[in-house]
Amino acid sequence: MLSLAPHLVGACPRQLCALEMAAPKVAVVGAGLIGLSTALCISEAFPSCRLSVLSEQFSPNTTGDVAAGMLIPHTYPGTPIHVQKQWFKETFTYLFAISNSAEASEAGIHLVSGWQVFKTPPKDEVPFWSDIVLGFRPMSAAELQKFPQHRSGQAFTTLKCDCPPYLLWLEKRLRANGVQVHTRRVADLWELHREYDVVVNCTGIGAHQLGGDPELLPVRGQVLKVHAPWVKHFIRDGDGSTYVYPGIDSVTLGGTREKGSWSLSPDPGTTKDIFDRCRSLEPSLQRAQDVRVKVGLRPSRSSVRLQREVLSRGGAKLLVVHSYGHGAGGFSVHRGTAKEATRLVGECIAALQGSSSRAKL
Ligand SMILES: Cc1cc2nc3c(=O)[nH]c(=O)nc-3n(C[C@H](O)[C@H](O)[C@H](O)COP(=O)(O)OP(=O)(O)OC[C@H]3O[C@@H](n4cnc5c(N)ncnc54)[C@H](O)[C@@H]3O)c2cc1C
Ligand SMILES: *[C@@H]1O[C@H](CO)[C@@H](O)[C@H](O)[C@H]1NC(C)=O
Ligand SMILES: *[C@@H]1O[C@H](CO)[C@@H](O)[C@H](O)[C@H]1NC(C)=O
Repeated sequence: MLSLAPHLVGACPRQLCALEMAAPKVAVVGAGLIGLSTALCISEAFPSCRLSVLSEQFSPNTTGDVAAGMLIPHTYPGTPIHVQKQWFKETFTYLFAISNSAEASEAGIHLVSGWQVFKTPPKDEVPFWSDIVLGFRPMSAAELQKFPQHRSGQAFTTLKCDCPPYLLWLEKRLRANGVQVHTRRVADLWELHREYDVVVNCTGIGAHQLGGDPELLPVRGQVLKVHAPWVKHFIRDGDGSTYVYPGIDSVTLGGTREKGSWSLSPDPGTTKDIFDRCRSLEPSLQRAQDVRVKVGLRPSRSSVRLQREVLSRGGAKLLVVHSYGHGAGGFSVHRGTAKEATRLVGECIAALQGSSSRAKL
């Protein structure tokens, strides 16, 4: 049987750029999950562009390094469900191919099975993503015996992206595609207008700055990463407040959702509360060891901002593509939004080519 290299599955369609002009210079600002995955997609679609990633922080100091990286969609109220479903499907298909290749361990991508359990059964019995994850079904009575406080549940298999490995793998692939990676804090996108033709804003919660996007809010999340290698199934309390997500080297226990809080310091009372809640779902965690506490700020918005913008000052112009505001579900949709951002970068490049050919006439 023919097996496709994972980078060819769902690859961003190659497009010609630089037909009539020097290769466009594109900068992606931000080296979190969204910046790196967007840069990779751009480098696949426009191999002749000169692409750079500029970021203040890199893995292990990004939001994705705190997250569990589970592919279980969060719902964006401001985005049509069919669009969210498409993003999730593209992401699932892309990562499933990696999980089924020799790259899986280095990329930190693996399949994981488990349960989502409910004390009060949900109104929508079947979530919109049920036919994308594998083997979605109601839990059996025997399975439910493990959760005496819960009345119903759903069993399925999904994917998990372990970080830092996944972020480091994306960075390695970018470098292999000739992308330049620089440590740099960008105070204002306009400062890049002399150096770059197109700038992609993937700054996560960093996009909330004075005069920035008032719709963007931090939602603080504290988690514990513990050593408990006997825990093999994920467990998610249906409202998403408490979860046990086993990864390759550690199990992520969560969580909290604190709207508007900017604090990155762990709270000891919260640590104890998370541990107690998780132990009531999975009593064997009593013997977990090496507890590490981590905090991240979800860049939350009613919808992901995926949009072009033209900045202009004194006759000069800078083409911008925004991709931020992935909130609690960045892992679940990142490949889909990277493709959409890449399409918008393509529109910018076409506009540049149009204006440079007009200039020649
Ligand atoms: C506790 C927790 C658990 C989570 N669990 C899951 C999960 O299981 N599944 C899921 O799908 N999602 C989960 N998420 C959500 C997911 O982690 C985020 O959606 C995702 O990591 C956001 O990525 P990002 O690249 O937009 O942001 P970030 O990782 O914050 O990256 C932003 C980047 O931009 C850089 N930057 C910012 N401002 C500037 C500037 N001015 N100049 C230069 N660089 C700048 C930063 O240094 C950083 O590199 C979780 C989040 C948390 C906090
Ligand atoms: C992460 O942050 C720590 C503490 O600020 C710093 O020492 C380290 O160099 C950073 N790592 C990277 C890869 O930037
Ligand atoms: C990204 O866009 C937001 C909203 O326009 C803005 O507040 C933020 O400053 C931008 N990022 C950078 C690095 O300029």
